[in-house]
Amino acid sequence: MIISALKSTNHTDTRSPIHIDTIKTLIDLEIEVWFEEGVGSGINVNDSAFEDIGLKKHSRNDCLKNANFLLTNESLSSEELELVKSGSTILGMVNPFNNNAFIKSCSDKNINLVSMEFIPRITRAQKMDVLSSQANLAGYVAVIESAKHLSTALPMMMTAAGTLKPAKVFVIGVGVAGLQAIATAKRLGARVEAFDTRDVVEEQVNSLGAKFVKIDLGETGETDQGYAKELSEEQINKQKELQSNVCARSDIVITTAQLFGRPAPLLVDNQMIDKMAPGSVIFDMAVESGGNVEGSAIDKIVERNGVKIIGISNIASKVSNHASLALSNNYNNWIADFYDVELSNIKFDFEDEIIKSSVLVFEGKITNERFQ
Ligand code: NAI
Repeated sequence: MIISALKSTNHTDTRSPIHIDTIKTLIDLEIEVWFEEGVGSGINVNDSAFEDIGLKKHSRNDCLKNANFLLTNESLSSEELELVKSGSTILGMVNPFNNNAFIKSCSDKNINLVSMEFIPRITRAQKMDVLSSQANLAGYVAVIESAKHLSTALPMMMTAAGTLKPAKVFVIGVGVAGLQAIATAKRLGARVEAFDTRDVVEEQVNSLGAKFVKIDLGETGETDQGYAKELSEEQINKQKELQSNVCARSDIVITTAQLFGRPAPLLVDNQMIDKMAPGSVIFDMAVESGGNVEGSAIDKIVERNGVKIIGISNIASKVSNHASLALSNNYNNWIADFYDVELSNIKFDFEDEIIKSSVLVFEGKITNERFQ
C-alpha cells in the first residue's frame, strides 16, 4: 500500500499530516510512504529529512494519482478528486458538515472517505481523536495570543514600583479547549472564572483552581457523546444577561462554545462588549463555525470601543510542530488499528464502532447515515 501525505493548500494551515517523530509507526508496518514536496515546511522539516528515513518525495499530482491512501488535513477540490484512483481511501480532517458535494463525489468515484472529525468519543478511540488533540493546543494558543494583545501582564507582581494586579480571565465553554485555556491562564498567574452549560464540568474547573460561574439556565445537559445540547433562545438570552457582568470585569474573555455539527451559539453581543473596559481582549475560538462573539471575523482583529476581538482560523496551527505531532499520531493510530499486514491494506470492518462512525464513504456508498 502506498500512503501519500499531502501539504495543506490553505496558507493559514501550516500543519503536516506526517511528523518525523511519529512516522516510525507507518514504517514499521512496511507501508510505502510518499509525501508531497514541502509537506514539512510549516514545521521546519526539510524534504531531505523525510527522504533520509526512507520516505519518497513526489509532486502533489503524482501523490494524488498513485496513492492507495491519502493523508490530508483538508478536503480536496473536485479537480483534484478527478486524479485520485478509484478504490483508494482519503483520510483526514475533511470538514464534513460543510462538504456534501465532496462526500457525494467520493461516493460517485468509488473513493473511500474517512473523516477524523467523526471519531467516536469512546476510550479506545481517544488516541485517534483529532478534535481533542487540536482543541487542547488551540486552548493554549488562545491564552498566549490574547495575552500578547493585552497592555497588562497576567500575573500579580509586587514590586518596589508598585503592586500590579493579576489579569482576570473568563472562559466560556469548558470542553477540551476551555480546560486547557483555564490551565494555561492559571499557570501564567491570571485569576480565572469559567462557565459551561454542562454542570459536570464544575468540578473540573475547581480542580484547576479556577472559579465556576453559576448560571441557572434550567435544563441543559449533554448528548451521549458528551457534547452540549443546543439551548433555547430564551436560555441563550438569560445566559447573556447573567454573563454580562463577568465579561465586564474581565480583561480577557475566551469563548470556546461549540455544538457538534451545528453553528456555534452567539454568546457575547455588542451590548456586553460595550460594558467591557477599553484595552480588554475577547478571543472567539468558535469564529470558524459561526462565532460566539458578535462582530468577530476570521483571521482578523476587530476593535469595538477599544475592545479587541480576535478571530483566528486553524488556531492549533500557531503551534504547528506540536499540532502536527499530535495529528499524525491520531492518523497513524487509526491506520495501525485497521491495517491488515497480510492483505497489505486496510480492513474495513463495519462491526467496529470506530470504522462505522469515521468512514463516511465505502465502496461507492455513503455509509454514515448522517450524510445519506
Ligand atoms: P465542544 O468543542 O463541542 O464544545 C466546547 C464546550 O462548549 C463544551 O464543553 C460545551 O459544553 C460548551 N458549550 C456549548 N454551548 C455552550 C453555551 N451556550 N455556554 C457555555 N458553554 C457551552 O466540546 P469538546 O471540547 O469536544 O468536549 C465535550 C466533552 O466531551 C468534554 O466533557 C470532553 O471531556 C468530552 N470528551 C470525551 C472524549 C472521549 O471520551 N473520547 C474525547 C473528547 C472529549
